[in-house]
Amino acid sequence: MRVGVLTGGGDCPGLNAVIRAVVRKGQVSYGDELVGFIDGWRGVIEGVVMPLDIEHCRGILPRGGTILGTSRTNPFKITGGVEAALSSLAEHRIEALVAIGGEDTLGVAHRLGERGVRVVGVPKTIDNDLSATEVTFGFHTAVQIATDAIDRLHTTAESHDRVIVCEVMGRHAGWIATYAGIAGGAAEILVPEEPFDIEVVCDSLRRRHQAGRFASIVVVAEGAKPREGTLSVRSGELDQFGHERLGGIGSLLAAEIENRTGFESRVTILGHIQRGGTPTAYDRVLATRFGVAAIEAVHDGEFDTMVALRADHIVRVPLADAVSTLKTVDPALVHDVAEAFFA
Ligand code: F6P
Repeated sequence: MRVGVLTGGGDCPGLNAVIRAVVRKGQVSYGDELVGFIDGWRGVIEGVVMPLDIEHCRGILPRGGTILGTSRTNPFKITGGVEAALSSLAEHRIEALVAIGGEDTLGVAHRLGERGVRVVGVPKTIDNDLSATEVTFGFHTAVQIATDAIDRLHTTAESHDRVIVCEVMGRHAGWIATYAGIAGGAAEILVPEEPFDIEVVCDSLRRRHQAGRFASIVVVAEGAKPREGTLSVRSGELDQFGHERLGGIGSLLAAEIENRTGFESRVTILGHIQRGGTPTAYDRVLATRFGVAAIEAVHDGEFDTMVALRADHIVRVPLADAVSTLKTVDPALVHDVAEAFFA
């Protein structure tokens, strides 16, 4: 079978491991011919491809990023984009497509599926916010990178008696903040799921510092918001999918904490470091399992599905379900587990 592969949205550690698994399993077990589309849906629209075979995939398992490139191009937001995508898939004689991406990429995959494209999705995002799968690959790596950073921030914060605010990614979900905050022993964890009150945060830091601790790490998710009317924040630009570009809450928070408490404060915004570099062993394994399962789904003719992890088994779920709801953190996880270590 001639199978197309693409990676869309923000890059994520483990993308190359999925590509490698699709190619190896496809070529060895099924005799497939694989074609890579460059830069996600942009490559499909413009018909830009590269051959994908075992040779092209040698050595890519531990490599971050994606050998196919990626973009946030949305064919449904471009005049003639859908027609161009359909004719390019026909021109390249693509019989099935494996789309590796997050909510946006998979949403496009589902809508193209409704127009007859035979597509299987693989969930990707460091944010871990897709409800149909228990975990997305890339999340574990991002948490490890953030935890390593928090460990380092502790020693410099302690040396200078400072509060350090560490801003992590996650979009509208606080998974990275919660996991890295717990793993890194944060003094506060602020997530988008629960708007924070700056005075409550400051009071908690004051209590901590009165009790003899002079350094605190505050982990804030980029999507965290102050309780209405307590602090004003600027809103960012929108991308092609209408998503706000997030970031900046960490700087605001550090300045407010310093003003209100008098504790010297600094901010570290981890940003794209969380997405770069080699995937953890866990993410390599999960990505490999997803890749193998995706090409199996193609050969079972189970299209318009996404592979997902449920109770440590790989299952197939309808693509429509995969993109319908955001998986968010239950703030009880922060309250019941993390808070015990805030004092
Ligand atoms: O969705 C993954 C993610 O890394 C988010 O955590 C972050 O908000 C966003 O992508 C940033 O994306 P970019 O800077 O590539 O547009």
